[in-house]
Amino acid sequence: MRDIIIAGNWKMNKDAGETAQFCSALKGRLADVTIPGLRVIVAPAFVLLPAAKQALAGSRIEASAQDVSSQAKGAFTGEVSAPMLASLQVSYAIVGHSERRQYHAESNELVRNKVQMLLDHRIIPIMCIGETLDQREAGETEAVLESQLSGCFDGIELSTGKELVIAYEPVWAIGTGKTATSEQAQQAHAFIRNWLNNRFGSQIAQNMSILYGGSMKPGNCEELISQPDIDGGLIGGASLKIDDFADMVHTGVSVLKKGK
Ligand code: PGA
Repeated sequence: MRDIIIAGNWKMNKDAGETAQFCSALKGRLADVTIPGLRVIVAPAFVLLPAAKQALAGSRIEASAQDVSSQAKGAFTGEVSAPMLASLQVSYAIVGHSERRQYHAESNELVRNKVQMLLDHRIIPIMCIGETLDQREAGETEAVLESQLSGCFDGIELSTGKELVIAYEPVWAIGTGKTATSEQAQQAHAFIRNWLNNRFGSQIAQNMSILYGGSMKPGNCEELISQPDIDGGLIGGASLKIDDFADMVHTGVSVLKKGK
């Protein structure tokens, strides 16, 4: 069975004190959540990863970066490399988020290079893809996903499917309060899994967790992650509130226990 992952993408929110406070409170709240197959991740800003890791020490909650450089080292002012993240024992990094694609003009080729850099340093990429509203309304959703998948995976080899996570995040649902229906999301996830099956074979396609992202919250989490191909969520706004985030972790536990 695939792991269910509940991941909070904090974006540019929470300072040092808020990060430490949230992480230690979360650790306390989830102390009795030890179910195998559930992964809980928070992604603070780069600079706060050590504070988050320190507050989470002794728990199974993991920290993720929100991005990484495609370069290993050198004259790249402002960048943070995969070896630097590895030296902090950071186990995940989000790449290709639509806000990076939109505001920093990140291409599939750049995302691909970041994915390779992370894999080379044994950090699990959480690779984001998803269509805009115009693309969905023009009936181009699958063509967009296909071109993002083939671009971001160009020349990438995987061995188990557990070393990378995909997040399907329809751009029109991010931060808008508009969630994809569970049917729309399941359809996109099934398309992605089928693409993985053709590209990497069935074992990798079946092992890989594919998260949904875009206005996920306690009220819609259960229905979304109960879908056969939705293996958790990458949650922005609702991950900033500890009650909502802990609630969604508990939803992950109950969906796992039901054994979907
Ligand atoms: P949202 O963001 O949950 O606030 O829509 C999700 C994301 O951007 O990862």
